[in-house]
Amino acid sequence: MPKKPVPHKKPNAPKPRHFPHVALRRMEDQVVLVTGGNRGIGLAIAHALAREGASVIITGRDEQALRHASDEITRSGGSVVSHLCDIRDEDSVDNLFTDIGRHFPQIDVLINNAGLAQPNAHIEKLSLENWRAALETNLTGAFLCTRAALPLMRRGSTIVNNVSIAATTAFAGMAAYSASKAGLLSFTNTLREEMRPRGIRVIAFTPGATNTDIWKQFWKEAPREKMMAAESVADALVSALCLPPNATVQDLVITPTGGAL
Ligand SMILES: NC(=O)c1ccc[n+]([C@@H]2O[C@H](COP(=O)([O-])OP(=O)(O)OC[C@H]3O[C@@H](n4cnc5c(N)ncnc54)[C@H](OP(=O)(O)O)[C@@H]3O)[C@@H](O)[C@H]2O)c1
Repeated sequence: MPKKPVPHKKPNAPKPRHFPHVALRRMEDQVVLVTGGNRGIGLAIAHALAREGASVIITGRDEQALRHASDEITRSGGSVVSHLCDIRDEDSVDNLFTDIGRHFPQIDVLINNAGLAQPNAHIEKLSLENWRAALETNLTGAFLCTRAALPLMRRGSTIVNNVSIAATTAFAGMAAYSASKAGLLSFTNTLREEMRPRGIRVIAFTPGATNTDIWKQFWKEAPREKMMAAESVADALVSALCLPPNATVQDLVITPTGGAL
């Protein structure tokens, strides 16, 4: 067996610093709702939080994808329930939260993740239907879910809104998506101020290019190898959620190391 190298010690080298113990928040017994948790970033977040011991509720419109996601999380030992919900539809959202209120005492973390993108179209070619779909899903949907969740949220809980760098950076052909995400960022900033006295943390979660199905909508040939994995993005969010109760991340921007695609 080769000899272990002896570490070279400088005679006057400073002692390593010992940081005081930071009491990270534990996710066990926390109830987490992830909208759009049946695939992509939402599913990766649901998996990551279930691994930390949270009770996870996932939603989406695609029943089969929802069942598949739920089975996957259960098989890996997580606690999950799934619920069909179209976040654009006020009745559907109200049904979801009435049902959650029947089964859970509170929601500890609401993750407004569900969202859509569309084929690129310059403004003169952009249909009113697509404009409305982007705003209704990415902005109004988050508003409806947040409003319905708040009566179930206590001091110390967290709301995360999945924004996008498109909220602050302009891309030609993406007016509807960008406007909806800029609106969501503004909504998030206002919500944070309203929630401060209630002790509810509000995080603007801003992933850069992440390898999910959403890219099929606006750039089919996008270089997937340059994108982040949904799991990396999810892990970054879990780290922010586990900060001690007296600390918060307001804007969590996570981008591929190589920068924009
Ligand atoms: N991927 C990226 O590069 C990236 C970067 C920044 C931000 N984001 C944001 O991340 C979020 C998740 O996107 P993703 O990349 O994971 O894409 P994805 O794989 O296409 O997932 C989108 C999710 O949203 C759900 N959804 C869409 N419309 C819905 C509606 N009306 N009601 C309920 N659920 C709905 C979908 O489920 P159903 O179809 O079953 O309803 C699905 O679970 C989006 O808000 C997106 O804008 C993505």
